Amino acid sequence: MTTQYQDRGGVVVITLDNPPVNGLSHRTRTGILDAMVRALDDDGVNAVVIAGTGNAFSGGADIREFGTPMAFQEPTLQTVIDTIEASPKPVVAAIHSVAMGGGLELALGCHYRVAAKDALIALPEVKLGLLPGAGGTQRLPRAIGLEAALNMIVSGKTTTAGALAHTRLFDQVVEDGVLEAAEKYARNVAHSPSAHPRLRDLAVQHESAEAYLGYAGATIAATGNLPAPLKCVEAVAASLRPFDQGLLAERDAFQYLMSTPESRALRHAFFAERAASKVPDVPFDTLARKIAKVAVIGGGLMGRGIGMSFLNAGLPVTLLETTADALARGLEAIRRSYEDTAKKGKLSQDQIAERMSLLTATLSYDDIKGADLVIEAVFEDMSAKEAVFRKLDEMMRPGAILASNTSTLDVDTIASFTKRPHDVVGMHFFSPANVMKLLEVVRGKKTGRDVLATVTALAKRIGKTAVVSGVCDGFIGNRMIEQYSRQAGFLLDEGALPEQVDRAVERFGFAMGPFRMIDMAGNDIAWAIRKRRAVENPAFNYSKVGDLLCEMGRFGQKTGKGWYDYKPGDRKAYPSKEVNDMIVRHSEDLGIARRRISDEEIVERLVYALVNEGALIVEEGIASKASDIDTVYLNGYGFPRFRGGPMHYADEVGLYNVARSIRKYARGYQGQAWQLAPLLKKLADLGQGFND
Ligand code: 3HC
Repeated sequence: MTTQYQDRGGVVVITLDNPPVNGLSHRTRTGILDAMVRALDDDGVNAVVIAGTGNAFSGGADIREFGTPMAFQEPTLQTVIDTIEASPKPVVAAIHSVAMGGGLELALGCHYRVAAKDALIALPEVKLGLLPGAGGTQRLPRAIGLEAALNMIVSGKTTTAGALAHTRLFDQVVEDGVLEAAEKYARNVAHSPSAHPRLRDLAVQHESAEAYLGYAGATIAATGNLPAPLKCVEAVAASLRPFDQGLLAERDAFQYLMSTPESRALRHAFFAERAASKVPDVPFDTLARKIAKVAVIGGGLMGRGIGMSFLNAGLPVTLLETTADALARGLEAIRRSYEDTAKKGKLSQDQIAERMSLLTATLSYDDIKGADLVIEAVFEDMSAKEAVFRKLDEMMRPGAILASNTSTLDVDTIASFTKRPHDVVGMHFFSPANVMKLLEVVRGKKTGRDVLATVTALAKRIGKTAVVSGVCDGFIGNRMIEQYSRQAGFLLDEGALPEQVDRAVERFGFAMGPFRMIDMAGNDIAWAIRKRRAVENPAFNYSKVGDLLCEMGRFGQKTGKGWYDYKPGDRKAYPSKEVNDMIVRHSEDLGIARRRISDEEIVERLVYALVNEGALIVEEGIASKASDIDTVYLNGYGFPRFRGGPMHYADEVGLYNVARSIRKYARGYQGQAWQLAPLLKKLADLGQGFND
């Protein structure tokens, strides 16, 4: 049973009981409807309260049903809401915590709503490429006004019941004791002589609705051409029409959006991110270690950002440096960063004081030896890591987790510097670490399962999305980006220019093309990696054009010139004649007749390079599932969310088609860089996808 029925002497409480978030699955919808019919048939029942168990009133429709016939199977949520709304006996929603999506729509269909002040309220369907499909676009404008409703629906943002207490959305907002308050409310209105209010009977109020909606539609159209936000505007506009007409418009739009690739991708991303922290051989009930105190070694850019991530979540941090100067610089930079945030109005002085009070600075390992977790963020050099880990092994209390923020080095080697390799793990944060959501958790051969459980749970606590990666060069993200960058270089050799490559990829939806990205990160860093590669593997081929660029001293934004020219105080990238001439000359030197390369080929070669390497990574077990790779790329590399990540995108294109293109590119320039991954080939032959 996913609903409970309890008669409390004239008032029936129907409780949603479908963990984890009381999703409105077919079974739950049927349960509510049956309970409503029972309450309506019982002459001893005068009123109904609908409540939820656990941590949510309801998180909305059961997203797992989307894309299956169950999603539209009767009783639909609309049918349930119609029954509630038409009930002659009053129905009161008791919202003690989360009411989102269909959960809020269910409440909007009730006659009265009682909520806890801090209950979280949202219609977040747009984030899944959808719109509220059970009357939300029609009832919310009637409850809180057209403009406020449109903002909530188009942004999908969460607010609190307290913030909306003054609107018709809530009849009563309480500090606590919601269920008792709702029951009392129900008893009070049970014998009300007048009909119980229905939001559908209200008119939408707005002085210049047409002009406002026109403006909103144009603004949204200008910021991108994703279908859902535009459909949200259209559906909210339909709330100005008679209620049932508006409802039909909403339903049509909902059904249309459900089958868009954008919605499939966003739904995939939702589940991929939640699945990422689940590691197949780490049972969900693995006991995590307690983390109350954190130490960070190294007050450089990474160390500071890592420290701030914990401070922001209210965890005490001790920052360790080798010199007083470096320590002072680190502390000053953290304070400055908080002050900058405060200037943007996103942090109060009290909050800054609170965070800084959690921060301790030290030059001595004695002051960190009691920490539960220590994260090393020193220079990326094995001998530097060795010194730190030998010291940590000597100093830290037994059971402390010893983490390295290395982005390139072998975590097993680092673990071997200690007598407790099971306590050692990689925590690869992305820069700026206090902002970027991705955390690659690098699992060494001996890393303890409880260490993984602890670190993935901790990631959620500090607002990061953790993905577990095995040990390999570059882990998941950087190993793949190397193949992507390699193709970008080959494209220049053959006929493209940086601005064309970047434009094509940005039109595809990437936040930034490869050349603008590397100009930000620093071309010298990639240069050093290529040099290392060439020594390790002399057969490793790549375009030399990036090396030529570095020989010209063009390291990127930090030197004012890279693939592009930059002007002081301006981050805009201006195409560079000097660079473009160099690229053309380089092709001539190679004897290549430059050709016109289509944007489609550019996107395919860059994205399929990610996909092919991703397939190898899954096959080798470095990632435990393809969706983890999508999570890495969505959260750390600016891959467009509405495309769901490289592996999901490949599934959408069809792996047969991806494999066919890869075979074609393998016959072209530098074709040896394309070795079709066996897993990709196998799935393509079977007609399956990575995420099947
Ligand atoms: N359907 C199915 N499963 C859901 C779900 C939903 N609506 N919402 C959350 N879950 C699942 C998650 O997948 C996760 O499952 P797992 O434990 O197996 O990984 C579990 O619930 C817990 O989720 P979170 O880790 O996100 O838990 P939090 O406590 O951090 O957050 C939440 C809870 C705020 C409810 C958050 O889960 C959330 O934002 N959920 C999505 C809400 C949403 O988008 N609702 C709209 C659905 S579409 C709709 O309602 C259409 C309607 O208009 C017709």
